[in-house]
Amino acid sequence: MKKSIFLFILFLTFFDLNSQNAVHLIPQPEKIIVNKGVFSLTNKTTIIYKGSVEAKSIAQRLAALLNQSSGFQFDTTNKSNSNSSILFVLETKMRTNSEAYSLYVKSKQIIVSASSAHGLFNGLQTLRQLFPPLIESQSVAQSTWTVPCLQIEDAPRYSYRGLHLDVSRHFFDKKFVMKYIDMMAMYKFNNFHWHLTDDQGWRIQINKYPLLTKKSAFRKECGGDTTGGFYTQDDIKEVVAYAAERFITVIPEIEMPGHAVAVLASYPELSCSGGPFSVPTTWGIFHDVFCAGNDKTYEFIENVLTEIVPLFPGKFIHVGGDECMKTRWERCMKCQEKMKTENLANEHKLQSYFINRMEKFLQSKGKQIIGWDEILEGGVTKTATIMSWRGTKGGIEAAKNGNYVIMTPSTHCYFDYYQGVEAEEPPAFPHNRFLPLQKVYTFEPTPAELTPEQAKYILGGQANVWSEFIPTTMQVEYMVYPRALAISECLWSQPNNKNYAFFEQKVHAHYERMTRYGINFAKSADKPSTIDKWNKSK
Ligand code: ACM
Ligand code: ZN
Repeated sequence: MKKSIFLFILFLTFFDLNSQNAVHLIPQPEKIIVNKGVFSLTNKTTIIYKGSVEAKSIAQRLAALLNQSSGFQFDTTNKSNSNSSILFVLETKMRTNSEAYSLYVKSKQIIVSASSAHGLFNGLQTLRQLFPPLIESQSVAQSTWTVPCLQIEDAPRYSYRGLHLDVSRHFFDKKFVMKYIDMMAMYKFNNFHWHLTDDQGWRIQINKYPLLTKKSAFRKECGGDTTGGFYTQDDIKEVVAYAAERFITVIPEIEMPGHAVAVLASYPELSCSGGPFSVPTTWGIFHDVFCAGNDKTYEFIENVLTEIVPLFPGKFIHVGGDECMKTRWERCMKCQEKMKTENLANEHKLQSYFINRMEKFLQSKGKQIIGWDEILEGGVTKTATIMSWRGTKGGIEAAKNGNYVIMTPSTHCYFDYYQGVEAEEPPAFPHNRFLPLQKVYTFEPTPAELTPEQAKYILGGQANVWSEFIPTTMQVEYMVYPRALAISECLWSQPNNKNYAFFEQKVHAHYERMTRYGINFAKSADKPSTIDKWNKSK
């Protein structure tokens, strides 16, 4: 008797796994039960919303998506009927996680329910992946599409799920940024970190300082050609609104006190030496940074931030803080004087003074700061959020200290690294950094050494796309996809729901989706030879 029950359970488990395998959702939902049967989309299907205007707006999004691809024309209504229907329900029942949703597919009805518009939107993204990849096409001839019957209960593991884009080293226009945001929405990312300033180009219009976009936004390449560009404040508003419609918060990064040579090219009086400077055409870490002893520097940054703050409604402004050389400060009379008057023991403390002063200013405008893990070095306030990129060490220290943390260790999250595996003898920098898909998938944002209490300070993680060696949008997509799918699952899905073999199968199923969406993903990313080699080298 006992044996037969055991065999029956084994059969159910096997059946369940097998049937789940036919459903290729990325990121993997928290709970999924696949049932027998399918829902068929026909021109008689109605799209219904219940609960509020938010439910209506999500229902309209599905209608728009289906209208452009299915060959049918759908409208939305709040009137129930007994036909085949897809229902979006904004429930009054509160859920512990505001991004959570339920999705129930039956043969005659699909119900997406959530207690927030963001939850409904997440449910819509899952439903989108349950339709055939044709849903990502424009104007397909009418045909019957089916969705497998199933039940999903889903919620994210982490509240912060980010993708970054460096538009300073190479400029990518507004249209591409919107496409980047579209893909982020599809894979349930919710924060776009926009790296808007760096040594090689300033990318955002600041009315008080017109030279930033006249001069600092452009550089002369070796061949004599000028390259660069910038976003007007209207462009920024448009992108921020576009992202908000997709429940993505845009976090601008304004680099300080280092990575500022593009600014110094226009305003050399903000440096320690006085310049002159030109916008660099090479990469690296430069000695020239903002002078931390000159009150004009703080006045300049405050004026810039005064224009930045109203453009970005999210709570965070990223102030950089990474890779700031201290060589000029050591020899600058103004910086040394500032250290004396503020009683700062060394240049690391001067960097802390700089960041803390700007944090106070931003707090007065209702914003919180994020900084790269270098901001820990001279001491940091409890209110700063740390982005841990030099491994997880900084993040661990910060979480133990009671600071919130976003994990983005270069070992697992730097998508400027190549997708192959290390050769026996790696070539010289920059061609010696590798991050294959399978290694990305092993990313664990919460280090084991944290106690459950400390682990609460890990908000989530992010992948970064530094563009020194990525000159085109085609290449950005090549570097980001499919690796972003792995990060998406690391940040959304519970660890016990992750499985690389199944993930790899799902990635293959998403290739057609991405092709139809016009994404130049790296088809070679999961070549078995690559993975075998990486396994060996592990
Ligand atoms: C960084 O990669 N410099 C944050
Ligand atoms: Zn100085």
